[in-house]
Amino acid sequence: MRIIQTIKELQNTLNQQRQSAGSVALVPTMGNLHQGHLQLVSTAQRHADIVVVSLFVNPTQFGANEDLDSYPRTMQDDIDKLEALNTDILFAPTIDEMYPLGGDHTSRVHVPGITDVLCGASRPGHFDGVTTIVNKLFNISRAEFAIFGEKDFQQVAVIRRMVDDLNIPITIITEPTVREADGLALSSRNGYLSKAQRQLAPQLYATLLEVKLAITAGDNNFEQLEINAKERLTAQGFKPDYLHIFQRDFLQPAKDTDTDLIILVAAFAGTTRLIDNLSVNLTTHTL
Ligand code: PAJ
Repeated sequence: MRIIQTIKELQNTLNQQRQSAGSVALVPTMGNLHQGHLQLVSTAQRHADIVVVSLFVNPTQFGANEDLDSYPRTMQDDIDKLEALNTDILFAPTIDEMYPLGGDHTSRVHVPGITDVLCGASRPGHFDGVTTIVNKLFNISRAEFAIFGEKDFQQVAVIRRMVDDLNIPITIITEPTVREADGLALSSRNGYLSKAQRQLAPQLYATLLEVKLAITAGDNNFEQLEINAKERLTAQGFKPDYLHIFQRDFLQPAKDTDTDLIILVAAFAGTTRLIDNLSVNLTTHTL
């Protein structure tokens, strides 16, 4: 695996390799890689000849009181995992390389509307940071494919919208959420959990399953289901941020006649904010 830190070297390398090898797939990450990330790498390898994994803890997507400083940085471990998968290129730039003028003085990409709800409402500016860095990575790599996880469902929706709105020539591919045996979605932030919080954490997914069961059993009083689920989370020891039943395609509150749904949740276990989601397609269920 080639480890590259500068934009110029990545571009030169890809220009050379493209001529002999062909298409490029990009897997953007912030490192501390787990099986969820590695699944994206395997998918990338199925779609393209050259796979670039980027590892950059992007400061512009963290709020002032968030975990930028404490975010886990495990470079050697990440390199070992990517090498074991025969990844072609790891792009791990410095902050100065990506934001030579500083994050505050760099142009931002803003996707309106769908960034105002859910995580966008709780983390103002977060998605502007995500779309800005992802757009830069798309432009730098000129990848034909980019792979993202459905664990961050809103993030994928925002990136797809950006790609559509700005006619970015790239194909977005998504992969289902990889979970622990007890249902907890893998996340770099799970490492922050105490033993007791780690035991509580799978209840987030259990709650999503319970809401899905109620919906597939015919309950379409979504507002009440949301209230009940948040009460359940609170009783268990979470501090819920949101739990919403949305239209899967449009990320808007679902109407009681909608059939293609997604349940999205964000909740704090202690100071750690966990997110998860679960799709419900009523057309594939018999009521
Ligand atoms: P990060 O949290 O490192 O996640 C990188 C990619 O891995 C994202 O596409 C995310 O959805 C995916 N991922 C994380 N956990 C997963 C799981 N349990 N199963 C499947 N996929 C999972 O998301 C980011 O970084 C950043 O916002 C980024 C897009 C890199 C921009 O900075």
